[in-house]
This record gives sequence, structure tokens and C-alpha cells, in this order.
Amino acid sequence: MNDLTRGALLAEPEDSGTNVSNNPSFDSVLNARLSRRSILRASFGVATGALFGTGLAACGGTDAVVTGLAPETAKSLKLDFNAVAKSLADALVVPAGYTASVLFRLGDPIAAGVADYKNDGSDSAASFAQRAGDHHDGMHYFGLGADGKYSGNASDRGLLVLNHEAITPAFLHANGPTIVNDVRTVADEVTKELNVHGVSVIEVGKSGNAVSYKKDSAFNRRITTFTEMTLAGPAARSPLMITAYSPDGSKTRGTVNNCANGYTPWGTYLTCEENWAGYFRRVAATDDPLRSAKEKTSFARYGVSGNGRELWATATAESASDTSFSRWNAMKTGSSADGSDDFRNVANTYGWVVEIDPFNAASTPKKRTALGRFAHEGAWPGPVVPGKPLVWYMGCDSRNEYIYKYASNAVWDAADANKGLLAGDKYLDDGKLYVAKFNVDGSGQWIELKFGANGITAANAAYAFSDQADVLINTRLAADAAGATKMDRPEWGAVNPVNGEVYMTLTNNNSSNRTIANVDAANPRFYSDPKGSAGSAQKGNPNGHIIRWAENNGDVGATGFKWDVFLFGARSTANADNVNVSNLTAANDFSSPDGLWFSKSTGLLWIETDDGAYTDVTNCMLLAAVAGKVGDGGKKTISNVDGSTTKAVDTFVGAALGETKLRRFLVGPKECEITGLAETPDGKALFVNIQHPGEDTKPNFADASSFGSHWPDGGNARPRSATIVITRNDGGQIGGGLA
Ligand code: FEO
Ligand code: CA
Ligand code: CA
Repeated sequence: MNDLTRGALLAEPEDSGTNVSNNPSFDSVLNARLSRRSILRASFGVATGALFGTGLAACGGTDAVVTGLAPETAKSLKLDFNAVAKSLADALVVPAGYTASVLFRLGDPIAAGVADYKNDGSDSAASFAQRAGDHHDGMHYFGLGADGKYSGNASDRGLLVLNHEAITPAFLHANGPTIVNDVRTVADEVTKELNVHGVSVIEVGKSGNAVSYKKDSAFNRRITTFTEMTLAGPAARSPLMITAYSPDGSKTRGTVNNCANGYTPWGTYLTCEENWAGYFRRVAATDDPLRSAKEKTSFARYGVSGNGRELWATATAESASDTSFSRWNAMKTGSSADGSDDFRNVANTYGWVVEIDPFNAASTPKKRTALGRFAHEGAWPGPVVPGKPLVWYMGCDSRNEYIYKYASNAVWDAADANKGLLAGDKYLDDGKLYVAKFNVDGSGQWIELKFGANGITAANAAYAFSDQADVLINTRLAADAAGATKMDRPEWGAVNPVNGEVYMTLTNNNSSNRTIANVDAANPRFYSDPKGSAGSAQKGNPNGHIIRWAENNGDVGATGFKWDVFLFGARSTANADNVNVSNLTAANDFSSPDGLWFSKSTGLLWIETDDGAYTDVTNCMLLAAVAGKVGDGGKKTISNVDGSTTKAVDTFVGAALGETKLRRFLVGPKECEITGLAETPDGKALFVNIQHPGEDTKPNFADASSFGSHWPDGGNARPRSATIVITRNDGGQIGGGLA
């Protein structure tokens, strides 16, 4: 969801930023710059080149995660499609020679006997336990073998797992949600919304270029806000996790605001809880006097206050023992000392990376607390190397938040590749959590978030930590204490299969959260995007950028790295000195990068946007890029201007790509964001999610033509979020490849 959308509908305190720490900004530090040559030697002393299909066997044939470095090749990576133009049409646009088909829309049935979706608000609340949810987001394809198990090389049959991040309430009910004086008076509407969130697992099949999902597959599953989840890892059973639902703090119910995702080399899906804080009702004026100083600090740092964005806690259940709605009330209402008679601690059971085994529809998902609690965008695996730790890279998506890395204590054993959640217990419950510090000289550090180290102690002035569970539940506060670098809203990450380098989108920031005084080397721009002619200019870094880093010596477990900025979003017409620094053209200019995916088949980098700045000119889009490597560009001084204030900052910018290495591949319908990326292992089917078309326009239900979009069904239909699948008409790989 972009900021304009959020602003128009509901206040989203998370995105607005709750980081009031004094963390840098490196203005005062001036270190000598390491030579680019030494960086290249350090990071690329081993062979670089194409990995692709051949390298996958190194991991026991189980795909799906990058496996290592492969031999040099004389071929080079190329884009082989013609760029599509920017578009404001209510239509999906892809290049000539490609077909985009709608696969899985809001409300589509996933079980035999479930009726087709009427899409007029009349479909029952209960039926959504067997229908596609709304706001399709992060997504992954898992190959399905003939034995019903994970098979990394299976392209003809697989399980597609996708998140349903949020809802467009207006279109779920006949005339929008019924709200009287800030109270949800129709319980059934709330139950429907609770069922519409979560995750879908669907079986998909490919026959030639035709891709479909199997409506009655036994693998199909909906995970919702009602699904029981186990709390796993060091913060499980902490006193901070005790609720009336789980007096021993070992479990919770449901997952919500599942944004992006990740996956594991043992074929499980990681769904990531992003803006969960806003769903809980906690009226601070009433609740604060009942809470400890530490609790209040924690609530403020995560933004747990307000009425709850969908007002779920205000609905009345049929019986007093039914806590379906009251569990969204995070206020202290009971008299117990430990919270076992209310939901005062319920917010602590959200904000995690959740592991789901899509191959076992009866399995209980596990919230993996070792990976920390924040506004998790996603969790992207690093190279999988036998005998080395497994790592996942993560971002906290809010303005001025941080980038994290988790490294398992166990080293990878390919014999674990089919062990499902048991493998998760081994690699995801025991490890080190780090936060990133980006230095002005192009180096960086991973600082461990460990109780007793790096300022994370009982003596920490802002928050007195008591143990490692407290550190993990209050990861943002621990990262503050450790001196992490505030970033321009971390969104998706992706790991280059060629060399293990990590890319992460920093979607945007604004002047109320980051002023010109706080530009730094890794977040170096401050400018004004001239949106439209009505004077709705946005100041700060409204177009975002993509940062990337290389672990020292190519070692996934390294605690140091080298970084540069891969790309800066901008209008192609913007000033090339301080805004359009990457020299974007009409064929590849973009704003607010969000989703990222490195194809393991072709090696291309796919970039998606979730924008609210350049939307006077174009709907959101998908681009394809040929990525280089850290250090392939050079040092650059950016001269920022804000009225009469100027500030120059030195940064490091990747080599310009030009239209040969960066092109727009797809533009979506009106008022959508483009998100979610998955592919079949053969690279011949690319799955993409079109989230919340038509969301910005308040619908007039007496005039269906007033809806902001009618995609994908057309006519005067209500819009629906949907998964699409893109194939190439000649049956080839999507976007290009080695040539
Ligand atoms: Fe849900 Fe960060 O986008
Ligand atoms: Ca996102
Ligand atoms: Ca976004």
C-alpha cells in the first residue's frame, strides 16, 4: 500500500516512523575511502559469472536457494524485450510477444463445492476460509514432485504460496463496512475481514504455456488470523508472551499484514508480519496509567496505540467466551498479574517471521522469534553453502528503520533438505541477529543484537533490557542501542545468484521524517518531486533507491561488507546532478522501488514499484535489469537543495545501466501496486501480484462506473487483487537471459 493510499484511508503510524533514537547520520565522520580496487579484490577474488541451472545441483538438487559460485562463461546476460511505455490506463501492459493471464483473484474458490465469487459484497464470511484473500503480496513457487514432496526442479507442477497483506474494505461488503461512531456494528463483516487476511497455498500446474490452479487440490489451504501458531525460538514462553489464549506463552492465534516473504532450502515458506501494530486497539490515555515504563516505551517504539485500523476490537461476539474480536484489544483489562486473563501482551505475539510448511496442510505454522520482531517486510535467504551458516536478510519497513541479517548457528547440511519444520527448528530457532551500520567510506558492519553486548544491557538509558527474549521482542530498541543506520524505508531484498551480493529497496522517505540535514552516504538525496501541476510536490526522497552490498570475502557469516547504491528512482526529466543520478530514460524511469527478485533461471533482476509520487504520469510497474556488482561505478557527490539550505554528501553509485540493461516490462492497472514475484524453475512462467487496483477512489455504490478500477473483470465490476502469470508466446524464458 502506498503512502497516499494509506493517508487517504487511515492513519498508518508505522510508516510515519517511530524511530526517535539519535542514531546516525554520518555527517561528522570523514574517513578515507577504501579504494574501489581493494573492494573488488576482497569481494570478487573468486570466479564470478553465471550460475543458473548448473549450480543448483550443488545443493543436492533441491533448488531453490542460491548455491554458490559457478564457472566463468563467455556468454553475457541480456534483456530481449522492447520496453513498454508508462501508462495511466486501467489495464495491464506487457511487451509484444508476451501474454499475461489472470490466475487467482480475490474470492476465487480453493475447494470443491465452493461457489464462484459473486464480487458484490454478498459472499459469506465463512466462505473466505476457502477463497483467495485480498491484497495479494509476497509469493513463492515450490516445485511439487510426483511423491508429493518438495522438488526444486519441478516446473510443471508446484505449490504457489502467497500473502494477503491487507484489505480494501469498501469492496468486501455490499456497501462498504458498517461503522457507527467508530464501532463495528455488524460482526459478520468483521469475521469476513479476519478470514480475508493471511496466506493462500494453491496447487498450480503448467502445460506448455498454459498455467492454472487446481481448485480441489488437497494441498490447497488458507491460513488466516484464526489459524493457531506456535511461538518458537528464544522468545517463546517469555512472560511477555502470556495471553488468555496461551497462559504459558507458547502459542498465539493467526497472522496479519503479511507483506513480503522468504523461503528456506528445505521447501518451507516464510511469511512476514509487517504493519501488524496498527490492527490492535490500545487507547493510550486509558491504558498508559496501567502500564510499566518499559511497556510504554515498547508501545511507542512500535506504534501500538489507537483504535485499531479496522476497528475489529469494537465488534461484539456472540458469546462472552468468544475472544475472536476482543483479542485485538491490547489494553490491560484483566486483574491478573501476568496477563493470563486478557490480551495486554497480544501485540508481542505479532511482528515475526512465520514459517509455514506448504507440503503439509495440517501443520501448525511457527513464529520464529530468533529473527526478531519489527515491521518485517520479508526474509531473503543468502547463498546456501554446505558447512556454512544459513543467512536471511531482512528489512523493517518504516521510515528511518533498519536492515537486519540473521545467521544460523548450525551450518548447512544438505541432508536436511526434506525435513520441513524440523529443519526450521534447527536453523531458525538458534542463531545470531545482526543490524546494519553503513559507513561513509563504503564499508559497513553487522552489529550483533545480543543481550549484554553492544549497549544492549539493563543499563541502556532508553530501555533496560532484561534478557535475550526482551531483546528479540524489542528488536527496534536493541538496534537503536547498537547504533544502527536509519534507512529510507527498507522494503524487499534479493540475492544475486551470480555472486551472492544482496540488493534491498529503500522505497522512499519524506521531509517530515528525514530533513536535508539528515542525508547521509547511504541515504544521500533530498529533493522535490513535482507531482502533477496542482502543487502536490513531495519533498525528501520520494522516488527511493536500491542499495546493495557484498559480504567481506564473499562469506555469508561475515560481520563486515562493502556497499554502493545500485539505482536511484527518478523521473527521467529530473536534474541529473542530484536527482536522476542513475540517468534513467523514458524507457526505464521509475519511482518507489518495492519488490525485488533475482531469477535463478535467467539471472535477471526484477524490480517492482509501489508508488505515490510519479503516479501523475504512470501506474506502478515492473522492470527488468542486468545487475553488475558492488563497486562497478564510483564515488559521487550529490548536491542537495531545500529552499535556501544546501547540503552536499558523498556516496557511491553503481555503473549506469542505460536502456540495454534496464527496461520497463509491465505497467499495472489504476491505483494498484505491483508486488510478489515468483517463477517456475525453468524461468518460463513468472507470477506477479497486482495489489489493490482501484483502492484510492472512494466508491459510490449507486454508480458502479465510479469505481477507481474495474480490473481484472472489466465492465463495471468491482476491482480485485489478483495473481497473474506471464509467459512468452514462443515458450521461452521471461525477459532474456544468457546470449
Ligand atoms: Fe507491505 Fe512494505 O510493503
Ligand atoms: Ca512492500
Ligand atoms: Ca511499499
